Amino acid sequence: MQPNRVWIAVLLVMSFAVSLTITAEAQESGTPNDAAWRRADELLKKLTLDEKLQLILSRYPSNASPGGGGGYIEGVTRLHIPGINISDSATGSGSTTQPSSTFPATIALAASWDRQLSYNYGSEIAIQLRAQGFAMGLGGGANLTREPRGGRAFEYLGEDPLLAGELLVARTNGTQSQKVMASIKHFAGNEQETNRIGGDSRIDDRTLRELYLLPFEIAVEQGHPASVMCSYNRLNAEYACENSVLLTDILKTQWHFAGQVQSDWGATHTTAKAINAGLDEEEGSDAGPSYFGRVPVLFALANHDITQERVDDMVRRKLYAMISSGVMDHPPLGGEKIDFDATRTFAQSVEEQSIVLLKNDRQQLPLSASKLKRIAVVGSHADVAVMSGGGSGDTMHPVTGSFTGCEGLEFVDHNGCGWWRNPWLKVPVPLTKAIRELSPASEVEFSGVQDEHAPFRAYSPGEIADAVALARRSDLAIVVVAQPAGEDFGDLRTLSLQNPSNQNELVEAVASANPHTIVVIESGNPVLMPWKDKVAAIVEAWYPGEAGGRAIANVLFGKVDPSGKLPFTFPARDEDTPTWGATGALSKDPVYSEKLNIGYRWYDAKKLAPLFEFGYGLSYTHFAYSDLSLKHDPDHTLHVSFTVKNDGTVEGAEVPQVYLGIDYAGEPPLRLGGWSKIHLKPGASQQVDITVSPRTQSVWDTSAADWRYIPDAAAYVGSSSRDIRLKGR
Ligand code: BGC
Repeated sequence: MQPNRVWIAVLLVMSFAVSLTITAEAQESGTPNDAAWRRADELLKKLTLDEKLQLILSRYPSNASPGGGGGYIEGVTRLHIPGINISDSATGSGSTTQPSSTFPATIALAASWDRQLSYNYGSEIAIQLRAQGFAMGLGGGANLTREPRGGRAFEYLGEDPLLAGELLVARTNGTQSQKVMASIKHFAGNEQETNRIGGDSRIDDRTLRELYLLPFEIAVEQGHPASVMCSYNRLNAEYACENSVLLTDILKTQWHFAGQVQSDWGATHTTAKAINAGLDEEEGSDAGPSYFGRVPVLFALANHDITQERVDDMVRRKLYAMISSGVMDHPPLGGEKIDFDATRTFAQSVEEQSIVLLKNDRQQLPLSASKLKRIAVVGSHADVAVMSGGGSGDTMHPVTGSFTGCEGLEFVDHNGCGWWRNPWLKVPVPLTKAIRELSPASEVEFSGVQDEHAPFRAYSPGEIADAVALARRSDLAIVVVAQPAGEDFGDLRTLSLQNPSNQNELVEAVASANPHTIVVIESGNPVLMPWKDKVAAIVEAWYPGEAGGRAIANVLFGKVDPSGKLPFTFPARDEDTPTWGATGALSKDPVYSEKLNIGYRWYDAKKLAPLFEFGYGLSYTHFAYSDLSLKHDPDHTLHVSFTVKNDGTVEGAEVPQVYLGIDYAGEPPLRLGGWSKIHLKPGASQQVDITVSPRTQSVWDTSAADWRYIPDAAAYVGSSSRDIRLKGR
């Protein structure tokens, strides 16, 4: 019920008086000695209560944010506080009105295992956000791939908390280097889309700390993001956005997070409870009631359900985030020209460093143009497009274009267009064209569905027969398969290729017609490969972004040595995955009963052979490992040193990985302890030094409610989690 106008007037007078009598004090959880914090505090004192309330609610869509963003906070012109225009930015700006570049999906970035690349990725997207007028980018997804069928796995950074955390740090720093506020999300326990609004994730303390909170802890510590976005789900019965243990005790008090907590869109459910739990900003709609709107907040103040100090804390945090990120003094103006060609070159280099070579029998790859008279390219619209992710992890208005009349896809039950955004991304240089450029003397022919209005329909028997005939008369067949996924519609039901439903049949038919069949996968999730032994080579290209055609061709023809490594396990069967249970039903309220055994930890603990393990990826060259030495500092920091030599014949990049065996009840056999990415010419070698922090050698001690260092971890060094070359202790 809404109070009447008189009542509101009374409330206003009362609350104004309250705000005048309370001196704002820096919260314990902030950084009171920081100049930005002091400046925020001074500015806060100049704001009226009305102005403060204006700063804690973002509105969309009826006051459609300028530039087609997802939210907007009005500034206070009198005090030179600029408005904050917010946009999604997982794989490029999500502006609904301005053309944007589409980068490879975040999971591709994770497959590069390259911190510098992640920094550059954050920075390149932020340059575009700023040019479009956005002051905040919502691109920092870091939920772990607990559920390999997760609809948003492509937006995240894989199944390991250290990999995800360190790449998120780099990305956050890259974003904020351009004076754009970075938001990291979805905090926490949001590992699936099934029952996404309000499903209750049941996660015990130790599992939470060692796995699902860890990427956020690392990012808060080393990336200082302006904002943390709390998620839609409940965590251990409480909504994440009104969970005081999560937001106040852990994030703000224990981790000293000084920025702001913003809700996911529509994830606020209460006024007083959410505010008291630590939520600082509601992302709501001014079309409907907002919990952080003026009336409910004034009401809660007058009722003493919340305090003025807490409201001040909310505002001070926002001001602090704006000042420290540079947005306060350098607000983005928008309307700047974007150099889309230069950005595309960068997008291509990201993809080239992210592609994972999964199989290469008899050195089928790299291809040699001079030997190929006719090349068959089959399936997945490889003559015009690449696949991208859906939902807010996508570019809404890609500069390269989407299918005719096809804003996106109708998912699962429909075959066609209509769902939000553009899973089939038109690209200026599709795979067929890129191959023609690299192999001009070959005839490159495409076979597959060419109907843009039903891009996901199954291949007809005639189309499969055509593909087989083409493969038979060609020297080589490249079959592109794709696995669409995305936000909101739920998770995949199986890791088997779907949409089109008979892609496996297509691969098998082509492979039986031509022994030189290469499969290129465009997916954001692991996929099952019943045809694995029947094809010559397999390449995982993820959702490759707008320069994907050229990047994939460059890897196939050896212009680039593949160096990506899997950021999650590819299982052999659905039934082997930790979340399948007896029936494969996705739980509405997931209980994380596998505890610490996420991803590769599960396959190691259960002694299950995956199809391709975490950290795996082939190269056109070979790397030899030698000379392991371990050194412990007095503070328990561990230094792992060894030599890697490129003992093959071409230049390439390797990702040497350090795994730890921690001898403690409940710990899985291995955890990632660190890694490096190095580039070596043939014959060259390099000493690699990897520093493992004490926390990475620790377990969460529930009785002490703290990290506990476990001495004498065994160190395993290798080229994947199962290709261990050196051991030491
Ligand atoms: C998603 C967020 C996204 C927001 C704004 C939500 O539905 O869960 O990740 O940032 O929408 O588009």
